[in-house]
Amino acid sequence: MLGVTIRLQPVWLAGLGVVLRLGNLAWSSNAPAQTAGQGAVSDQEALRLQGEKLFETRCFVCHGREGKGDGPAATGLGANPRNFTDPQWQQATPDAKIRKVIKQGGQSAGESGAMPPNADLSDAQVDALTVFLRSLKGL
Ligand code: HEC
Repeated sequence: MLGVTIRLQPVWLAGLGVVLRLGNLAWSSNAPAQTAGQGAVSDQEALRLQGEKLFETRCFVCHGREGKGDGPAATGLGANPRNFTDPQWQQATPDAKIRKVIKQGGQSAGESGAMPPNADLSDAQVDALTVFLRSLKGL
């Protein structure tokens, strides 16, 4: 989680700017704290939505639309695509490993080569995917 937190700093700072402006506007109505909370959440939500779009174009075939590892191309790979809703997997897997596997493929982190690399994705896109995968926990 630490890695993502650091990478997201510009986003959070931008969000903070919005929050501060909204806070000023909302001051007279006496609700700046509530407005600040909403600003921060929507930045994270924007990232999650970006990740979801990427997931729906290049991951769902194996991992399934809901990330449960049951996509139409999930069988015959020699390894089962990961079920991202599994709380145990979520807990045991650090962000750094998720990012590495997405970008460099399963083999780069001692997992199956059936998980393909996505070398063309930018760091920001990999972060968005990571946020989306985290949002699937326990679904
Ligand atoms: C061709 C099928 C396929 C596609 C497409 C695919 N994956 Fe995978 N993925 C797998 C398989 C199979 C595994 C399990 C590897 C293993 O168990 O060794 C896996 C595992 C993973 C893991 C778990 C790594 C770990 O340490 O547990 C992550 C994260 C992941 N995939 C993310 C993605 C993302 C994000 C995408 C889309 C950008 C994607 N995958 C696209 C097949 C696929």
